[in-house]
Amino acid sequence: MTDKIIIFDTTLRDGEQSPGASMNVDEKLRIAQQLERLQVDVIEAGFPIASPGDFAAVKGVAAKIKNCSVAGLCRASFKDIDRAWEALSQACDPRLHIFIATSPIHMQHKLNMTPDQVLERAVEAVKYGANKTSNIEWSAEDAGRTDMDFLCRIVEAVIAAGAKTINIPDTVGYTLPDEFGERINMLMNRVSNIDQATISVHCHNDLGLAVANSLSAINNGARQVECTINGLGERAGNASLEEVVMSLRTRRDLMPYKCSVDTREIINASRLVANITGIEVQLNKAIVGANAFAHEAGIHQDGVLKEAATYEIMTPESVGLSANRIVLGKHSGRHAFRDRLATLGYHLTDDELNRAFKRFKDLADKKQDLFDADLAALVEDEVIRATEYFKLLRIHVASGTQDTPVAAVEMEIRGEHVQGAGWGTGTVDAAFKSIAAIVPEAQGVTLDLYRVEAITGGTDAQAKVVVRLTKEENTYQGLGAHNDVVEASARAYVNALNRLVQIGNKLGKKQKGV
Ligand code: KIV
Ligand code: ZN
Repeated sequence: MTDKIIIFDTTLRDGEQSPGASMNVDEKLRIAQQLERLQVDVIEAGFPIASPGDFAAVKGVAAKIKNCSVAGLCRASFKDIDRAWEALSQACDPRLHIFIATSPIHMQHKLNMTPDQVLERAVEAVKYGANKTSNIEWSAEDAGRTDMDFLCRIVEAVIAAGAKTINIPDTVGYTLPDEFGERINMLMNRVSNIDQATISVHCHNDLGLAVANSLSAINNGARQVECTINGLGERAGNASLEEVVMSLRTRRDLMPYKCSVDTREIINASRLVANITGIEVQLNKAIVGANAFAHEAGIHQDGVLKEAATYEIMTPESVGLSANRIVLGKHSGRHAFRDRLATLGYHLTDDELNRAFKRFKDLADKKQDLFDADLAALVEDEVIRATEYFKLLRIHVASGTQDTPVAAVEMEIRGEHVQGAGWGTGTVDAAFKSIAAIVPEAQGVTLDLYRVEAITGGTDAQAKVVVRLTKEENTYQGLGAHNDVVEASARAYVNALNRLVQIGNKLGKKQKGV
């Protein structure tokens, strides 16, 4: 049995199923390229039949990525498989990922099918896919709650039909580590042709056990783990890639497996995903949280200064963390700026670099100390934005302890110069109202989340604002960064409205994956 653990990243598919995490094609491409630098083995790029946007993203990722296998998700239906195969046509190593639910509760209430019908459908679909490629993954949705005899029977049948990877998802995050490991062990012992396939696991984190369950599965014979950057994913998320990979690396003594991930790219991947989705990781999140390597207690600080290993089981450098020091100043040149961005995982075109560099110079004039986080926020705000149907040109606000806050805004709306005004309970509220007064798409939108964060210390810190809007059950996230908090807020709001138009156009009737 091989000792290599295949890392299958599903940030772009299951991760995107996190509320508010919808990404456009360009954003998905950026993340895919970072996953390639991270050296994951498989990138699940989307669910092609779900929407034209998903199709375009899978197609784009498949065409661009040359060092990882690219997977497209499909239900056990010929139409889904054809669509996924079309999207994957340019991939260097395409994988069809076919799933069907196998637990009694899903088969009865969701599919309205008997176990035998499900088995027959699964076999038919795998055979159909196997006519196109030998790289077939088959998933038993809700395997964690599937009857074990049936699971063994259906797994044996789909392997005979041509599946090369058998994925065992704990779709609802229900199992406990020993129990889940035992399921894998049973499959290893009871499925007669199991040696012809690789067992994969896909654990959700509803009880906070997704990583523990994945590691337990490895100890029992699984050789592929499905996971996401920052543990993003449906509901409580999926097993976090960084936690799985760093557990394997740090506890090689107990888990002597090989894994191709370049762990020094973890922080860049985490920041990129957080910045693009607007879903920040909690401060104390393992591996990538801001406090993961911070030592607060004096006794710990003292120990770490004498010998880092006293309180650090892994080094910050091993995950790509450099001290958050002052990186550039107003005299820094374009070359140093480009280099620093590349170290942070941003590889910009000349035009993007010019725009970002101009913003950097403006910021450096106003703010003395610039940190990596400042640069990342600036690039995300200036460069990595949705197509700009609406552009904020100018905003002016006025308020005082006795005055009603008012705002006046100038915008370019689909190429036309338009002015608006509004008043509100505070300056941000007034700014949003002045924008909503002139952007037709803002009608019928609700503001679900408004979050503002100072990127660094000091009153001259840049503010990073995340705005989440809902329209007709779809959510859209917007990001803005600026050293004026009202301008950052307005930029985030306009960004969310642009994404609403851009992604909304593509959503059509998007069907949720699972
Ligand atoms: O959670 C799940 O069961 C899934 C499958 C489609 C693999 O995401
Ligand atoms: Zn899932």
